[in-house]
Amino acid sequence: MDVTPSASRLTNSLRDIGYDFASAVADLVDNSISAGSRQIDIELVYEGESSYILIADDGWGMGDDDLTEALRFGSRRDYLNDELGRYGLGLKTASLSQCRRVTVMSRRTPIQRRISARTLDLDHIMDTDRWELVEVPEDTWAFRALEWLDSSPGTVVCWEKLDRVLPKGRSVGGGRRRIESLSNRLSDHLGMIFHRFLEGSALDCHRLAITVNGQKVRPWNPFAPKEEARIELPRRQFEIVAGDEVGFVSFTPIVLPARNLFSGINEFERMSGPAKWNRQQGIYVYRADRLVQSGGWCGLRAIDEHTKLARAAIDFMPELDELFRINVAKMRVSLPVEVRPLIEPHVTDLCHRAQEMYRRDLREGVNQEPLGTVRDEVTSSIDAQEIGAAILSASLATKTTAQLQSIVDHLRRTNPNVVKRLGW
Ligand SMILES: Nc1ncnc2c1ncn2[C@@H]1O[C@H](COP(=O)(O)OP(=O)(O)O)[C@@H](O)[C@H]1O
Ligand SMILES: [Mg+2]
Repeated sequence: MDVTPSASRLTNSLRDIGYDFASAVADLVDNSISAGSRQIDIELVYEGESSYILIADDGWGMGDDDLTEALRFGSRRDYLNDELGRYGLGLKTASLSQCRRVTVMSRRTPIQRRISARTLDLDHIMDTDRWELVEVPEDTWAFRALEWLDSSPGTVVCWEKLDRVLPKGRSVGGGRRRIESLSNRLSDHLGMIFHRFLEGSALDCHRLAITVNGQKVRPWNPFAPKEEARIELPRRQFEIVAGDEVGFVSFTPIVLPARNLFSGINEFERMSGPAKWNRQQGIYVYRADRLVQSGGWCGLRAIDEHTKLARAAIDFMPELDELFRINVAKMRVSLPVEVRPLIEPHVTDLCHRAQEMYRRDLREGVNQEPLGTVRDEVTSSIDAQEIGAAILSASLATKTTAQLQSIVDHLRRTNPNVVKRLGW
């Protein structure tokens, strides 16, 4: 009995496999890196209903047959051990999670200007219930690929019919603002996920450059390698046996400098990261040098203001994929039970050291205020927020919260800095 899945229903449900916009683009960037790219240019262009997104690389490209295979759900191919791809799904599922039509143009040969092109259209799959490619549409923006592929090999992916990126019913102004905010978020995300590639420190990989709408993506390294006052704790490496596979997992703990020991306030703010200090503390998991999880303690402990300066890298290679249970969107891993007890004591040690560093900041009384401001003597030796919390709880206990509220309102007008320092 034939139980072949329905192409239309399955493809439609694969749209919700867990990508958001930035992680979908990141999955295409993985492909470009695996194809040896040095330069990746991303464009988000607002054109009303015809808005589109291009991801262009200068990798080794694909010929006709490779390209057809690349657009198959579950492409067939062998993988090298350090490759970022694995399931043969990324290009299709990442693209269709954001748009209804994806066209890929690619040039393989350096000598001839021969370009292969293919289009996958969700509406066609819905109409026919068949997984098949369509003729490359004449009106596609993907023809802009000819600019990129004019002189050398590479691949350009073009997303159109952006139903998920730009849902219908927006004004022109709203659409443009959405594209602009997506570009900014995308730059930050790629700068973090691929920071080792952008810095040129990824294993066996040359330095990569990425631009988003012409702006260079700046790497964001959570470990602030240039800060002199950071503390590097010893790196640990563990050999893990998982079934037939043997692989290494490394753990690299770093205590970031306290605010007053940072090279400058701007750098301190920048190192706070996309989700800010508290939520960026914790473990950064790298798979083949690409970040798959940024911050949080993987259930080993809770996020805590006092350990916000603690960050640690965990590195593993794709042979341990199953053990780390990486999801298709490469947005989540789980810390294997085999690894937890090995790193737990080092996490505890890291957090103690981070607390000491945090207290150093408090003793010098600059945890809440910008560098270089004059500090008064009382707040420099006691944590102002603690005082604030103590007064609040005393007011609750003595049922005087209404009176306290009046005091706070008055202070807010006459001495707003005090209210801020007390954490109200
Ligand atoms: N930018 C690219 N340059 C060259 N080849 C690519 C590119 N994007 C995709 N491919 C080819 O298409 C295949 C399928 O890609 P994908 O669906 O992302 O699955 P995976 O990366 O897991 O193999 C890749 O294995 C690769 O051979
Ligand atoms: Mg891929």
